[in-house]
Amino acid sequence: MNITYISTIPSITQAKGRRIPMYHIIGNWKQYFSYYQARDWFTMHGKELAQLAEQTQHGLALCPSFDGIALAQQATKDTRVAIGAQTCSAFTNGAYTGEVSAQSLKELGCEVGIVGHSERREHAGLTNTQIAQQMSQLVAHNISPIVCIGESIQEKERGTTLVFLEEQLEPVLKKLNTVLATQMPIFIAYEPIWSIGTGNVPEREYLEDIFAFIGQYISKRTPLDTKLLYGGSVSANTVTHFTSISAVSGFLVGKASTDFQELKKIVSLI
Ligand code: PGA
Repeated sequence: MNITYISTIPSITQAKGRRIPMYHIIGNWKQYFSYYQARDWFTMHGKELAQLAEQTQHGLALCPSFDGIALAQQATKDTRVAIGAQTCSAFTNGAYTGEVSAQSLKELGCEVGIVGHSERREHAGLTNTQIAQQMSQLVAHNISPIVCIGESIQEKERGTTLVFLEEQLEPVLKKLNTVLATQMPIFIAYEPIWSIGTGNVPEREYLEDIFAFIGQYISKRTPLDTKLLYGGSVSANTVTHFTSISAVSGFLVGKASTDFQELKKIVSLI
């Protein structure tokens, strides 16, 4: 089946209709900033961020915590910067204390949404099936999902990484095949847990093997055009290590994306 993609998130996929971005650079701000700190960040860097997004051939997105989404959206209004969320409810609405619906995220202007981040898997105890459900909520609300997968150091050492990645991917791809009509980009972010926040980056050969595996696994199971991202200790020092892997379409950048000068350097290096 042939699916034609018409971008619904121009700032990150088609750069407001002008060009196809070379790379997608998505900042995951985790819980690094409080509301006021995020507000101050945009006050200090908002203008330069907008210029950066205007000048670069890459797509830029930032994912603050829920409390920062509205202010981030306001600060980046009419710019080429997209705003996203770090998780979303697996349910449409109802008695789900503490959850935020995909509909709210859409109303707040989110164009992308992260699901299945290893920190959410660990701290909220999410299963692969629940993550697939969250993804499907995002897709149903026209928000491009960024589904994170990745092995722990134990899996890597046991040599069970590929089986583990398969288990993470399978329910997500099954779910995607029920929404084949979607015209939005679907991102799969490979983030080895042992690389997140540690400064340890996988060797090139390791990455090539993993990305080849993920690419093949996905293409055998869905006709949707998924884009593969890498995440884990991406910084100005490490980013060019990853651009040599041809399957990589972009980066999920944690800590380094909270430092505007560092983010700018990353953008300029790729
Ligand atoms: P890091 O985090 O860049 O701080 O390693 C990446 C992520 O968790 O998405």
